[in-house]
Amino acid sequence: MGSVIALFNMSGGVGKSTLTMNLGYHLSQDHQKRVLMVDMDPQASLTTFVGFSPFDMEKTVQQAMLAREPLPILQELGWADLVPANIFLSQAELRLSSELRREYRLADALEKVRHEYDVILLDCPPSLGLLSVNCLVASDYLLIPIQAEYKSVEATINLLQVTYETAQQVNPKLRVVGAVPTMYDERTKQSQRALEAISEMFESIRGNKFFEKTTVFQPIPRRTHFANATAEHQVLAQFAPKLVDAIRPLQEITQRLGALT
Ligand SMILES: Nc1ncnc2c1ncn2[C@@H]1O[C@H](COP(=O)(O)OP(=O)(O)OP(=O)(O)O)[C@@H](O)[C@H]1O
Ligand SMILES: [Mg+2]
Repeated sequence: MGSVIALFNMSGGVGKSTLTMNLGYHLSQDHQKRVLMVDMDPQASLTTFVGFSPFDMEKTVQQAMLAREPLPILQELGWADLVPANIFLSQAELRLSSELRREYRLADALEKVRHEYDVILLDCPPSLGLLSVNCLVASDYLLIPIQAEYKSVEATINLLQVTYETAQQVNPKLRVVGAVPTMYDERTKQSQRALEAISEMFESIRGNKFFEKTTVFQPIPRRTHFANATAEHQVLAQFAPKLVDAIRPLQEITQRLGALT
């Protein structure tokens, strides 16, 4: 039975989708895990990043959630399977709001395929609407990417509070497996201070069961190679295999995630 791990942060542009595809790749290639990635964001960044055109997708996770159709699983990548998204997924959020079991639709859909995978990664949208709530309900673990900048640190304490309260209501078994500082600029004092503040913050809430297993991982450095790689529909390890200072933290995270399954 695969573990379901959501990459979640209500803040936009912190590196969720980039991390999802890179972790999916390393879980598959370094740990021989059977990986499914689910694009839960109507912006469809993950779908685009790995090389599909969202508008060509006849079916997305939307039909699985609304009409209870089987999940449309694309197998072309080779290293992981993908359930794509496109902008029409935003309608699901509206239409689901009047449906029964509206928070459980993703969990119900995943239940039918869970036995085929070791790890299922959910790339969440940057909001706390019904799509994200479905992700929280369907998950065993959360991985929270946090931009390593001072301004994001202040927002993070509120994010953690809201995430904790929501998770308590819909899925009390959910645990935060890790926090990933992203876009870390090792040359600036600001980034270094943010990193220290993130570690201190998680240390101070470790008494809470929701966070007791949370590892604050090594930061992912800010490198333009990430964007250049996705423009080529590649993960970093394919595009710039020598960029070990950015690949190593990804491998450290996958080591931990791989051990969960
Ligand atoms: N470590 C990094 N260094 C530099 N750029 C990065 C890094 N990680 C991601 N990026 C770039 O930052 C942008 C946002 O990344 P991404 O789309 O993964 O974030 P996101 O959290 O999924 O965004 P959204 O909230 O919109 O879904 C992209 O252009 C991506 O290429
Ligand atoms: Mg994204």
